[in-house]
Amino acid sequence: MDLQISGRVAFITGAGQGVGRRIALTLAEEGVKVAVNDYFAERAEAVVAEIHAAGGQAFAAPADITDKASIDAAIDAAVAALGSIDILVNNAGVTVERRAKGGMAPTFLETQPDDWEKILDLNIWGMLHCCHKVLPGMKARHWGRIVNIMSEAGRAGEARLAVYSGAKAAMLGFAKAIAQEHGRDCINVNTVALGAVSHEGIKAGPLAPDATPENNERLGKMLGAYPVARGLQRLCTPEDVAPIVCLLASDRAKYITGQSIGCSGGFVML
Ligand SMILES: NC(=O)c1ccc[n+]([C@@H]2O[C@H](COP(=O)([O-])OP(=O)(O)OC[C@H]3O[C@@H](n4cnc5c(N)ncnc54)[C@H](O)[C@@H]3O)[C@@H](O)[C@H]2O)c1
Repeated sequence: MDLQISGRVAFITGAGQGVGRRIALTLAEEGVKVAVNDYFAERAEAVVAEIHAAGGQAFAAPADITDKASIDAAIDAAVAALGSIDILVNNAGVTVERRAKGGMAPTFLETQPDDWEKILDLNIWGMLHCCHKVLPGMKARHWGRIVNIMSEAGRAGEARLAVYSGAKAAMLGFAKAIAQEHGRDCINVNTVALGAVSHEGIKAGPLAPDATPENNERLGKMLGAYPVARGLQRLCTPEDVAPIVCLLASDRAKYITGQSIGCSGGFVML
């Protein structure tokens, strides 16, 4: 199936590694011109080099998405290099609430406002900055796709990830409201909810790519929590996520908006 997005321009936040990197590579394979954002310029540039090596078009747009001036300038530079942004993927996010305490993340009462700030800044303020910047152009061109990468913690709630759960739930509520406001502009806004995802950027623990149920007891327990993982005997990878995001970013998804699609092996069933 041709997704009919070749030639479109995408801006993907936090695309220097992990889920965002794979979304960038996969959209580029579909002929999309990809602006690769990351806080770390060298990560963004490395992904751009991968896309160029595969024959695609890409531009490194490093910026701190929590800083409005920084992300505005990066989006302006991406537009100058590739063209107006048709597709925004709000991917950058923090996965853990705080340093583990004796192997356990803290409960809400064990955290302090300083701990909440980074989670809220990145997952909420970063998304608001990016949406506010690209929506006027999408509206003017009467076409746009926004995909928010959230977590099943946001749909079901997860103990010891209270602030993260709340921040990710906010991404969903915001997406639904924007989907209502901009349906008339043919701008579709959806979220993809992830469970645990293993990828190359994670160096230790059950989500590290070299973890196995034999060398990591926690991974064995986690596999049991995901119906699909029990069959595949592995956790989700970015390769499982990227095609879903590409579909939602495409013209094929013109009648899907305001939805949250779980890509978590049945961890949450709504
Ligand atoms: N990996 C998982 O298990 C998992 C589970 C559920 C949801 N998610 C969500 O999926 C998304 C991607 O997760 P991941 O594991 O690939 O993340 P990651 O932490 O591996 O990569 C995120 C990238 O974002 C960049 N980044 C961080 N702060 C930034 C900022 N202020 N501005 C711009 N870039 C910034 C980082 O440098 C990094 O390269 C996140 O929204 C996360 O919450 C991940």
